[in-house]
Amino acid sequence: MPSRRRHSYGGGASPATVSSSYSNSTFTDRFSPTTTTDKSSSIARWISKIFINCFTPPDTVTSKNFDDSEQTIRSRRSSTGSVQRHYGNGIANETEHPRFTFDEIYDATKNFSPSFRIGQGGFGTVYKVKLRDGTTVAVKRAKKSIHDDRQGKEFTSEIQTLAQVTHLSLVRYYGFLVHNDEKILIVEYVANGSLRDHLDCKEGKILDMATRLDIATDVAHAITYLHMYTQPPIIHRDIKSSNILLTENFRAKVADFGFARVAPDSESGATHVSTQVKGTAGYLDPEYLTTYQLTEKSDVYSFGVLLIELLSGRRPIELSRVHKERITIRWAIKNFTNGDTLSVLDPKLEQNPANNLALEKVLEMAFQCLAPHRGSRPTMKKCSEILWGIRKDYRELLNTSL
Ligand SMILES: Nc1ncnc2c1ncn2[C@@H]1O[C@H](COP(=O)(O)OP(=O)(O)OP(=O)(O)O)[C@@H](O)[C@H]1O
Ligand SMILES: [Mg+2]
Repeated sequence: MPSRRRHSYGGGASPATVSSSYSNSTFTDRFSPTTTTDKSSSIARWISKIFINCFTPPDTVTSKNFDDSEQTIRSRRSSTGSVQRHYGNGIANETEHPRFTFDEIYDATKNFSPSFRIGQGGFGTVYKVKLRDGTTVAVKRAKKSIHDDRQGKEFTSEIQTLAQVTHLSLVRYYGFLVHNDEKILIVEYVANGSLRDHLDCKEGKILDMATRLDIATDVAHAITYLHMYTQPPIIHRDIKSSNILLTENFRAKVADFGFARVAPDSESGATHVSTQVKGTAGYLDPEYLTTYQLTEKSDVYSFGVLLIELLSGRRPIELSRVHKERITIRWAIKNFTNGDTLSVLDPKLEQNPANNLALEKVLEMAFQCLAPHRGSRPTMKKCSEILWGIRKDYRELLNTSL
């Protein structure tokens, strides 16, 4: 039996005080230290108290501050005066890269008819579109309230980030169009719904432990790539189960770079980015919430929450549960430290030696990811390596017990 580490989690303010409107919402400017009043700062601190009772003073490490405004997109109008395109790292006009046109998207969706709609999120509406060349793509159409500065920034942030990355476990970016007041993002279509849908069994099939381990490994690889193999490194900032899309073979692709930020370049000597608090309630790194200092370890924290969600099937915050079970990570940590690890296992999964071993090992790693101080959390690369080993042990045990 692996040793149990004790961390100082939980025990904070009553989750009953969490407003249900936060349970699935996205944090944006509401908690911006730069654009809102002291009141919102205190609200952010209050929320952090609710999630995790682990207040930590801001790091004394000096850092360069990276302002949101530096992330402005260079754009120019095409010769038609209405369409912009973005390919790779540059922006080109329609005649140079005639791959997508607004008219084509408009025709293919029959004027954005609800029959082509596959989802709705904070950014806008998502459509499944078959292009003239036969390619099926996902089209994200920004809400018309795009004059709202936040959404505009989110859009350009997503574009800038997506344009840089290519990885099998990241949703591929194809391009974007701006047409009058329309902003449209065209990305790879991932056919099998989100991880959250599958944990809820909306698709009718229970995800077995082997698949859950594959998904965790894919996500770990994708985030490792963002943190280590893009220059400058990218912090996703919104790792959560609805942003993990599954292929028909149940491999995971990480989506939604709307909140992504470029991490400080290690050569600059900076250790973190000072920024508005963004992300989704229940997944937010408490240290980021209290200090506004964003590092790759904030993604590690969110990944820890995601792992517990994968193992238990529960959402990070479930207000319909009895009081002590509402904050899933707190409940899981308590049961684990009390020696009742099996109670954390998703009741849809069978208890058997291989599943139990995976549960124990992944939980141990998840708790390290959830350490209150970012310095105690493993890197995503380390998480990938650990998961790789757990999956190997799991498969061996499964084969021997057949
Ligand atoms: N590339 C894609 N391929 C297939 N379906 C997608 C794709 N992107 C999004 N979807 C579907 O659209 C839904 C809404 O996605 P969207 O990213 O807009 O919002 P969300 O992730 O659910 O919430 P949030 O706005 O908080 O990120 C997803 O849950 C998924 O079902
Ligand atoms: Mg999303």
